[in-house]
Amino acid sequence: MAAAQRIAQLRAELERHNHAYYVLDAPIIPDAEYDRLFRELQTLESLHPELQTPDSPTRRVGGKVLDGFASVRHAVPMLSIRTETDTEASGATNFDTRVRNALGEHAGEIEYACELKFDGLAINLRYVHGLLVQAATRGDGETGEDVTQNVRTIHCIPLHLNDCHADVLEVRGEVYMSRRDFNRYNEKQRELGLPTLVNPRNGAAGSIRQLDPALAAKRPLSFFAYGLGEVKGWTLPATHGGILDALQSFGMPVCADRAVVRGAKELADFHQHIAHKRDALPFDIDGVVYKVNSLALQKELGFVSREPRWAVAHKYPAEEQLTVLRDIEIQVGRTGKLTPVAKLEPVFVGGTTVSNATLHNEDEIRRKDVHIGDTVIVRRAGDVIPEVVGVLAERRPANAKPFNMPASCPVCGSHVVREEGEADARCTGGLFCAAQRKQAILHFAGRRMMDIEGLGDKLVDQLVDENIIRSLPDLYRLDVATLAALERMAEKSAQNIVAALEKSKQAQLNRFLFALGIRHVGETTAKDLARHFGKLDAIMQAAPEQLLQVPDVGPVVAQSIVDFFAEAHNREVVQQLRELGVHWQEHEGVSDQVLPLSGKTFVLTGTLASMSRDEAKSRLEALGAKVAGSVSKKTDCVVAGTEAGSKLDKAHELNVPVWNEQQLLDELEKQVNRT
Ligand code: IVH
Repeated sequence: MAAAQRIAQLRAELERHNHAYYVLDAPIIPDAEYDRLFRELQTLESLHPELQTPDSPTRRVGGKVLDGFASVRHAVPMLSIRTETDTEASGATNFDTRVRNALGEHAGEIEYACELKFDGLAINLRYVHGLLVQAATRGDGETGEDVTQNVRTIHCIPLHLNDCHADVLEVRGEVYMSRRDFNRYNEKQRELGLPTLVNPRNGAAGSIRQLDPALAAKRPLSFFAYGLGEVKGWTLPATHGGILDALQSFGMPVCADRAVVRGAKELADFHQHIAHKRDALPFDIDGVVYKVNSLALQKELGFVSREPRWAVAHKYPAEEQLTVLRDIEIQVGRTGKLTPVAKLEPVFVGGTTVSNATLHNEDEIRRKDVHIGDTVIVRRAGDVIPEVVGVLAERRPANAKPFNMPASCPVCGSHVVREEGEADARCTGGLFCAAQRKQAILHFAGRRMMDIEGLGDKLVDQLVDENIIRSLPDLYRLDVATLAALERMAEKSAQNIVAALEKSKQAQLNRFLFALGIRHVGETTAKDLARHFGKLDAIMQAAPEQLLQVPDVGPVVAQSIVDFFAEAHNREVVQQLRELGVHWQEHEGVSDQVLPLSGKTFVLTGTLASMSRDEAKSRLEALGAKVAGSVSKKTDCVVAGTEAGSKLDKAHELNVPVWNEQQLLDELEKQVNRT
């Protein structure tokens, strides 16, 4: 095949994969295969420089380090919108009333397009004949900065549009950093002892204004389109909703959480609906945006003092607030890790009152220069624990105190060590330390481990503090009388706990292994180990090289398992638990055996009537299947219970086979009979 033809083919294919991965979030091929195609294209392009084009997927990164950004005058000014902060009902009604008053008598019920208000950085993307030629920040609205090089590194932004015949099309939207990318970036920085980002918005803004595009490319950003700038040679749809649909069809990422509604009541409903979803969204939002849907009515409404009368932002409570740091306490985790926790003047942030927040580790406190008594910025976004992200040094009182990590554990008095290259300080007390013991017991009893219902943190505190439980096996020595004698414990609850303990004795090897709390052995590794070895004794006696045979077990994990079982104390714990009746089914290792559903990937969605999702998952896994959290082209089957949602839609979209509950039950039965 001629080079030009192969190059065109590779580009088209890579773009398709890029779109599937970054826009649809449904990858079609493994990363390694993508990399192989990418390298083939790179090689061909370097052999044929005359065939290089600016919109080739290889040309996202590779620009020069700049001295500064050039100014860009916006063809159409980039305006901002008015904000409503009132409760859902009045904020929506205020806007609807203003719109209807401005339109006068003839206005009936108005149709609105509702969107999310993304918390990032506004960007104008200029496409000429479908090709991305320039990207600019908003700046003062009239003039922004040319950040084309950095914007090209954002994978979900198409370098050219599909089937768009406009001469000029400016797409406006928000560049943002997802919470996952933000947390990962910060975790990595923390491990390396480097500065962290305050919030995803600063992450996005800092990265876009980075003069070295190679550095910008290292900070993962995303984009959502929400409007247009200059347009030439394209007939606009009649509505804003129509514009967003068209942009999506051109390959632009447009957020799926959008709706077209009628009247104030439905605006308020949208506000409330999104408020419930806010924590679960993969990115920060600071509100929702309502826009009059009809472009004709938008034109009629026009602008007041540079703000459109046809749009409004309706905000939610902020996810960052200022408060005073009263004290710093040390929390000791299951593995002995000491985490400094900020004790705060209670503050309402991200929808709840927060009085504790993590400070991560000692270095982080130094870097942020946090003193006790300081006014600090607290962030609570999504379901992650609140954190102190910064300090207002100018508000520091004269009596503010610096923080020092204690040299001994505040719970058990053992030495605190910090190993070289490690960011965390650790208590060396092991299970002698009551804090570690409590965490170890809570972990052991967890739902995905031994699943001991009713054994929560309050009870574990009492049991450990009163020295009733000194080690894990003591749990199974508890009786109703001992439990019922505890404060705030009724006879009935005591009986329930003893029954739950009894029930948990019927265990599974993988759950038991996970429950032991071996460092680096998470749920997945525990499953892999159980499947590979089949018997606990085989794992306890395994040499590192045998452990390395298990998929995804590397030297660090292997060594950690060997070290754990080399401790006489840990072997003793296992033996006692077995003597007390904890048991599971053992089998021959399956390392060479192919299970009936090996290699098949399932996704579960909705509610099943006959079993919990966790149970369905473990039954499928026992037959060798992998159970994934999201649907992609690689999914072999989606099992849909009642009230299945977007995963089911995606399955239909990607033509993935869908089973109902009965089909799952039939298959499980059939396969179990075969094994
Ligand atoms: S529309 C003329 N829609 O909020 C209308 N803006 O003041 C222009 N923003 O910094 C804006 N999400 O970057 C619009 N769905 C959305 C938005 C949104 C976030 C930002 C925008 C600007 C500010 C508006």
